[in-house]
Amino acid sequence: MSLEVEKVTKVFGQNTAVDNVSFAVDRPGFIGIIGRSGAGKSTFLRMINRLTDASMGAIRFEGRNVLELRGSAKRAWQSDCAMIFQQFNLVPRLDVVSNVLHGTLNRHSALTTFFNLYPSADIHRAIDILDRLGIAEQAPKRAEALSGGQQQRVAIARALMQDPRIILADEPIASLDPMNAQVVMDALRRIHEEDGRMVIANLHTLDTARRYCDRVIGMRDGRVVFDGTPDQLTTGAARDIYGADASFSEASTSTSINALDETSRAMMEEAELL
Ligand SMILES: Nc1ncnc2c1ncn2[C@@H]1O[C@H](COP(=O)(O)OP(=O)(O)OP(=O)(O)O)[C@@H](O)[C@H]1O
Ligand SMILES: [Mg+2]
Repeated sequence: MSLEVEKVTKVFGQNTAVDNVSFAVDRPGFIGIIGRSGAGKSTFLRMINRLTDASMGAIRFEGRNVLELRGSAKRAWQSDCAMIFQQFNLVPRLDVVSNVLHGTLNRHSALTTFFNLYPSADIHRAIDILDRLGIAEQAPKRAEALSGGQQQRVAIARALMQDPRIILADEPIASLDPMNAQVVMDALRRIHEEDGRMVIANLHTLDTARRYCDRVIGMRDGRVVFDGTPDQLTTGAARDIYGADASFSEASTSTSINALDETSRAMMEEAELL
């Protein structure tokens, strides 16, 4: 599996959101993209699956420039790279299994979908995928009745229904508490390892990027300022990526620390742990 990103640029008016981004991947890795707010992470992911058109550049998947695809070829590509979002994007009042079946939408007519007339083979597959993610018993419940971590696993199940080659995840754990964040990241990692799917995830914390990714790309002001392994992602490298001044601390980008309540934070600060 090869993905080559070549000089990809996105301009919004006067603002260059993604600036000449290039990198190449020659196997289905688990890639993390980090950088401060506004660095261009979401815009970049959205260009890969064609939710946003690039202003310049090429993205070649197995040699073919996906930025040039039109019509059914474009839709097939979008189905090959499923997207997961911070806010899960489920239909809240719809039951879990129907939400998962939405992942087959590209293959069915609008009428079939409207009447919830899914083939039973698809329904069985949806349940199997939910089972694999440890939430099969939630299948008949409304999506809105589930915890955030469960809802994000439903979104992953919906993505897997497409049998994607790549999973694009835009801050998949930014709305979750540390425990649910871990469950969701573990699920993505397992899908990557067992199925050989590439994962490209925008992550807002250094510790998650270090722990789960085999390659990390750091973006700053639309440009790639770091591209390496978690080992190479030193405090100095992180400082460059986040553009932090002397007050920069590793902890300030850590999920677990951010999730602490104010009292514990104050106590830790007093003890100079932060
Ligand atoms: N549809 C749009 N129209 C105009 N400008 C946009 C649009 N989408 C993004 N931008 C701008 O592009 C830049 C990059 O935004 P983007 O959302 O990609 O950053 P990000 O790294 O994902 O940030 P965050 O961590 O806050 O999600 C920002 O300056 C943003 O204001
Ligand atoms: Mg974003």
